[in-house]
Amino acid sequence: MGKLFIEGGKPLAGKVEISGAKNSAVALIPAALLADGPVVIENLPRIQDVEIYTEILRDMGADVLLEGDWIEIDGRSLRPMTMPNGRVKKLRASYYLWGALLGKYGEVSVGLPGGCDLGPRPVDLHIKGFQALGARVENKNGVMSMKADRLRGARIYLDLVSVGATINIMLAASRAEGLTVIENAAREPEIVDVATLLNNMGANIKGAGTDVIRIEGTDRLRGCRHTIIPDRIEAGSYMILAAAVRGDVTVENVIPKHLESVSAKLREIGATVVEDDDSIRVIGRERYSPVDVKTAPYPGFPTDLQQPMTTLLTQVKGSSIITDNIYANRFRHVDELRRMGASIKVEGRSALIEGGTKLVGTKVVASDLRAGIALVVAGLTTDGITEIDGLSHIDRGYENLVGKLRKLGASAWRETTTPSNAMKGDNSDGTQFDA
Ligand code: EPZ
Repeated sequence: MGKLFIEGGKPLAGKVEISGAKNSAVALIPAALLADGPVVIENLPRIQDVEIYTEILRDMGADVLLEGDWIEIDGRSLRPMTMPNGRVKKLRASYYLWGALLGKYGEVSVGLPGGCDLGPRPVDLHIKGFQALGARVENKNGVMSMKADRLRGARIYLDLVSVGATINIMLAASRAEGLTVIENAAREPEIVDVATLLNNMGANIKGAGTDVIRIEGTDRLRGCRHTIIPDRIEAGSYMILAAAVRGDVTVENVIPKHLESVSAKLREIGATVVEDDDSIRVIGRERYSPVDVKTAPYPGFPTDLQQPMTTLLTQVKGSSIITDNIYANRFRHVDELRRMGASIKVEGRSALIEGGTKLVGTKVVASDLRAGIALVVAGLTTDGITEIDGLSHIDRGYENLVGKLRKLGASAWRETTTPSNAMKGDNSDGTQFDA
């Protein structure tokens, strides 16, 4: 599994370069399969989810060249085949193969996705969307088989705002016959990013970024180059971290507009937030005010930052409430924070935080990706050593976390095997430590 060690109590200051967006990358990679030519995607984060997706594409016969921060995908040699569980179970975004392959070949058989355990994560809206476009959908022992003689554009109203369903319908509809209109579409920047790639490939998509998206289907899509937008969730994580440790951190290569809800909350607690064209500086303060936070679809406060925000609020004297309106059970980090000394009660969808307690370093477990970063933030506020098990969850979404933390002055290291004497820097017994 691997562990991450954080020695807290260091002053953190400096600049951190934000990588390309994970949740764009994992949609752009399958989207590239729709083209009848090579697609180059730049500013690619080198994270576990990207590596797994690359392996899935290679398994299916696509030509994939992955180098540094770019990838070239040529889907012309891909053989549509049944992909049961296995690798597709390792990440949520494998469900984008449904939309991409259904759009391209009119059929697909790919297993149900995996991803972080945040409670029930149904895919009914994806399926309803594909059915509206004319696909027959069957669940054969966990493998979703979809087939359409010809996909035809349709008017689709999403009962709930869903990032995944919006993107999946866009993927399939871009090669359908006629006009598809998605109403109550999600407005996340990652959706605009995918629409930009598809349009550069020759698709005709209008309205991405609003709640009505119009897609005029086309027969052929061509190869192109695309640069991924910055990861607003990675950036928000470092902003929250800066506030929690009372540091002075500038996140660089960001789109400040994408982070308005986060900047606003940090200002509300009393941190100083200074926006520039493509950077945001967060300067922590000793005294903060408690706040209430409610997660909501973009442009609301992102559920993906609810967990690190909970940690920050443990460092704010007074009572704060954080409510997750997207996932009812995204609170598995709370038990671990309590083990570090936090006073938090979960009631329904809300965490009630009695902040102002000094956290202590101990052994904790990251149950999912953002729980992992919440524990990293917690560890940095302590005066001791925090041992975080479940490093593989964090590796799914944070590129070079240890390197970036160290650049800010943190003491952090990883251990990729599990020896009994996990001493910092001690690799005399063959244990591997890497950044
Ligand atoms: C995306 O998941 C992100 N993942 C998640 O990021 C993020 O938390 C989520 O959007 C919300 O912003 C990727 O982009 C790969 P949804 P997605 O469909 O698309 C319900 C992270 O930490 N719903 O927008 O799967 C669903 O249960 C991850 O980076 C249905 O009921 O989320 C949830 O309550 C974790 N039926 C709500 O809608 C459906 O068919 C929003 O989910 C689909 C969703």
